[in-house]
Amino acid sequence: MTHAIRVHAHGGPEMLRWEPVEIGQPGPGEALIRHTMVGLNFIDVYFRTGLYQPPSLPFTPGMEGAGVVEAVGPGVADLAPGDRVGYGSAPLGAYGEKRLIPADRLIKLPDWLDDLTAAGLLLQGLTAQYLLRQTYTVKAGETILIHAAAGGVGLLVCQWAHALGATVIGTVGSEEKAALARAHGCDHTILYRDEDVVARVRAITDGRGVDVVYDSVGKDMFDRSLDCLKRRGLMVSFGNSSGPVPPFDISLLNKKGGLFITRPSIGHYAGTRAELLAMADDLFDVVGSGKVKVNVNQSFPLRDAAEAHRALESRQTTGATVLVV
Ligand SMILES: NC(=O)c1ccc[n+]([C@@H]2O[C@H](COP(=O)([O-])OP(=O)(O)OC[C@H]3O[C@@H](n4cnc5c(N)ncnc54)[C@H](OP(=O)(O)O)[C@@H]3O)[C@@H](O)[C@H]2O)c1
Repeated sequence: MTHAIRVHAHGGPEMLRWEPVEIGQPGPGEALIRHTMVGLNFIDVYFRTGLYQPPSLPFTPGMEGAGVVEAVGPGVADLAPGDRVGYGSAPLGAYGEKRLIPADRLIKLPDWLDDLTAAGLLLQGLTAQYLLRQTYTVKAGETILIHAAAGGVGLLVCQWAHALGATVIGTVGSEEKAALARAHGCDHTILYRDEDVVARVRAITDGRGVDVVYDSVGKDMFDRSLDCLKRRGLMVSFGNSSGPVPPFDISLLNKKGGLFITRPSIGHYAGTRAELLAMADDLFDVVGSGKVKVNVNQSFPLRDAAEAHRALESRQTTGATVLVV
């Protein structure tokens, strides 16, 4: 018998319950892994509340973890028991001591990357990879805007975009977060509660607007994000921490300068094993080089995942948060 967090009905953090669960042996293409660390991500909140629908109830949340392969099913050739592995994408099921997972989602961990750092890095790091290197190829001399700049994805994006030679503008909810973002490559911070975000961005860019906005805040920031773009700029709406963006009038894109918009997820970029491994290689290169540092700034016992969710939702966290198994 092993234990996992399960959600029987959607709701608040109190719906995350630590329970005994049965886990079978791996089927074709699957691996059984024993977690040492599990990553906390905002998407875990969306599945818990019901904003995103899990395949069924009850379910075990989580899309990120690190640990050791205990067994592999038929047809799994490139992994063996004892391998150190991590992952940062669907399917759900990370909040447990052990889990079954499609083996093609697992990434072998380099020796220099410890399990805690891997569990704090993979999902947010793969996200930063596709945002900066695929959805839009950020180039030296360009200017980007990233919201929640001191958050998990935010600190990675600030550092990586800075390393690519871009000017980084970040919005944050407090002075402390502003200082943290600036220490991680964010050239200009905007306190969105006190300052006019659009006016500051226009002033910083001499009226031109930014090349790309990475907006994970959703409802509360969407309109302002569009107003920060240059003509024909790209709006990347990749999250809803303040709530989903309501349906909008496509003619706005015309009125605001022939803008482009996309709403991506990791699965659109790491859909095949080859894509996933190429993204992981790129991520490990930039982290291994020291250009991007991983900030695991909070950790909680896995069984206390409810406390971790409360901290994340009330904006008390910075950088990454890991649940220790
Ligand atoms: N589409 C994808 O592939 C993908 C992948 C990973 C993450 N994401 C999205 O990226 C975002 C960041 O994820 P993360 O795990 O790194 O979280 P995070 O940024 O570490 O935490 C969320 C932060 O968002 C800000 N925020 C703004 N409005 C908020 C609100 N109403 N409630 C709570 N927080 C609010 C807060 O920072 P301030 O105090 O500075 O406002 C908060 O600290 C999430 O929206 C997530 O869904 C998307």
